[in-house]
Amino acid sequence: MSNDEPFGVYVHWPFCKAKCPYCDFNSHVRHGGVDEARFLAGYLTELGHFARRAPDRTVTSIFFGGGTPSLMSSGTVEAILDAIADHWTIADDAEITLEANPTSVEAENFAGYASAGVNRLSLGVQALNDASLKALGRQHTADEALAALDIAKQNFGRVSFDLIYAREGQSLADWHEELTRALSYAADHLSLYQLTIEDGTPFAARHAVGTLHVPDGDKASDMYVLTQALCEQAGLPAYEISNHARPGSESRHNLIYWRGHDYAGIGAGAHARITEGGTKRALSTLKPPEDWLAQVEDRGHGLASDEALSTQETAEEYLLMALRLAEGLDVPRLEAMSGRALDPSVLDALESKGLLARNGARLKATQSGRLVLERLILELAA
Ligand SMILES: C[S@@+](CC[C@H](N)C(=O)[O-])C[C@H]1O[C@@H](n2cnc3c(N)ncnc32)[C@H](O)[C@@H]1O
Ligand code: SF4
Repeated sequence: MSNDEPFGVYVHWPFCKAKCPYCDFNSHVRHGGVDEARFLAGYLTELGHFARRAPDRTVTSIFFGGGTPSLMSSGTVEAILDAIADHWTIADDAEITLEANPTSVEAENFAGYASAGVNRLSLGVQALNDASLKALGRQHTADEALAALDIAKQNFGRVSFDLIYAREGQSLADWHEELTRALSYAADHLSLYQLTIEDGTPFAARHAVGTLHVPDGDKASDMYVLTQALCEQAGLPAYEISNHARPGSESRHNLIYWRGHDYAGIGAGAHARITEGGTKRALSTLKPPEDWLAQVEDRGHGLASDEALSTQETAEEYLLMALRLAEGLDVPRLEAMSGRALDPSVLDALESKGLLARNGARLKATQSGRLVLERLILELAA
């Protein structure tokens, strides 16, 4: 693997103060507290495992995700960053992001994270009114979130925040008003997610019995189209289905995933892609935090799976990820991964239906194509 390709390190903190009823991320509540020092030792051990498997790389991005990483002390964040610097070279312009929940208590940690080396904060605002925040089970008010956003802007050169739309009872006009307001607060990046009803969550149970009503497919698509238009007008066009940035402020970490580059992933339930001996490998760690920790202490890593991807699987994964991007995919790169050319008749058919657009060596999903992305990918991969 060449040294000059981007390389990321993802660090998963799997704990939250409370579990939001829509969320199926690997996040857990521990009322008895978390032994942070012991978890830190686990992270440092697992970093060593990845450093041996992916040596001599230059780290271009680090992402503390969760769960709620803003529940970590700044000392823990700093110790992890120091260990990453001991194992690899960190690029001078590396992007170092931490995901934070916007409660006032957590905002008090922001200056400490900045001193530890974090240079980008991603804040989970989710909604700009208290009734919606309550319905989402959030632990903060809208005012608290906006105050945290101000503190974030004072401490970090780059700030993003997340909103969820297509929420219960939300009309197109409501979203128009909320997003317009959000854009007036936006720094350089916004993640705007359509609410997904995830299996096994309290929202899924309520949806199944008909007590949770969310905007249907057509309404949600209208919200998506409105989102693209408003963000574009405000100078934060979509560079990925749910991600919007001022040009040049795209999340470099997420681009590593979507452009099919390698990344290490430490902590419970993290994923990683590492190229070893020319073969891309897919790795993931155990999801229950205490099981992950026990295995790390016993075996030096918390891996639950570690599999070689075939050339076909590597290419399909790249196709799946890169078509989410406005820049699309690099056709020669895809064909080199799969060892075969894309079928010209399939390309022609999708292009004539207005779902795909070709521009030299790049292939992009059009706006209509992005609305039916899964179908598009199935046809291209066939
Ligand atoms: C795993 S969360 C971590 C961030 C942080 N814990 C928080 O909640 O603010 C990352 C983002 O995923 C989004 N998200 C989580 N579950 C979702 C769902 N069911 N539908 C849409 N977006 C979701 C939220 O916007 C959230 O900010
Ligand atoms: S949305 Fe964020 S705070 Fe809520 S449970 Fe999921 S990870 Fe935790």
